[in-house]
Amino acid sequence: MVEIVETFADVRARHSDVGTVGLVPTLGFLHEGHSSLIRTARSACDIVTVSVFVNPLQFGEGEDFDRYPRDIDRDSHIAAAAGADIVFTPSLSEMFPEPPVTTVTLEALTDALSGRSRPTHFAGVATVVTKLFAGLQPDMAFFGRKDAQQLAVVTRLAADLSFPVEVVGCPIVREFDGLALSSRNIYLNDLERRAALGLSRGLMAVADAFESGTVDAESLEGIAYGAMAAEHLLEPEYAELHDAYSVVNLNTVDRDSFLAVAGRVGETRLIDNIRFDLTDHGIVVDRGVRLPRPVPEPT
Ligand code: PAJ
Repeated sequence: MVEIVETFADVRARHSDVGTVGLVPTLGFLHEGHSSLIRTARSACDIVTVSVFVNPLQFGEGEDFDRYPRDIDRDSHIAAAAGADIVFTPSLSEMFPEPPVTTVTLEALTDALSGRSRPTHFAGVATVVTKLFAGLQPDMAFFGRKDAQQLAVVTRLAADLSFPVEVVGCPIVREFDGLALSSRNIYLNDLERRAALGLSRGLMAVADAFESGTVDAESLEGIAYGAMAAEHLLEPEYAELHDAYSVVNLNTVDRDSFLAVAGRVGETRLIDNIRFDLTDHGIVVDRGVRLPRPVPEPT
């Protein structure tokens, strides 16, 4: 049984003397992408806490904070099924007893990519993740490669601020047709969802081109951008290759890196990426994991 806990102190009490503590931070409205992080945490840790908090600091003016989907009963069931022990659902006043005057910003890593259109977003993420690390004291914390820039930010802040936590990056979970799972996909109607496939279709074409020998960023970015631009309902924002840790822009795939895309379908902003991992056998592409095709409802 999963336990729903509302205060930092109560979660900390449950974390004491139990071995390795795993944390999966989320905004809630859990899907199979979140479940995969929880399952990975379950296999690596003795106790697994999933935090569910729609963090106002990371939403900008005019973004979807008010309409972001919230359903804690649904989230608790999904978290329990994936193996969580605790669902931490702090109230706004538990997370921020006072409006914070101490915030966490990173001098690098946050200017490029999504930082351009969301200038306050990553400081909001960094501040709340810092509070979760400080307040819950996990040994390991699990983040998705779906948010590649966020993963770089969290990894770096943990190192810079000396949190004794291992940040683990986990593969992107995709629908059977390639669309990366996101809580925001519920905003899409059928036509918009079809247009949204321009993001992942472009990235899979990038992966194919890379595996056929194309390594220069300009060519690969052109493939991804072109696939987005081909969809009338999809307004491309960027297609760029960046270093996986420093997030500097790259000209060639020659290290751990990711090619990230962002675009807007109607009111909904979507992001996706594919990751290039430097291994002993050279650079390999991580396209993520695909879910099976859903079984059609009987008519
Ligand atoms: P949220 O968007 O709920 O995502 C929670 C975690 O799930 C993140 O680490 C994200 O990368 C991961 N995730 C989302 N979709 C995924 C997918 N399709 N495959 C694999 N992992 C996926 O990211 C946040 O919340 C917030 O910014 C947070 C870190 C909780 C700070 O408020």
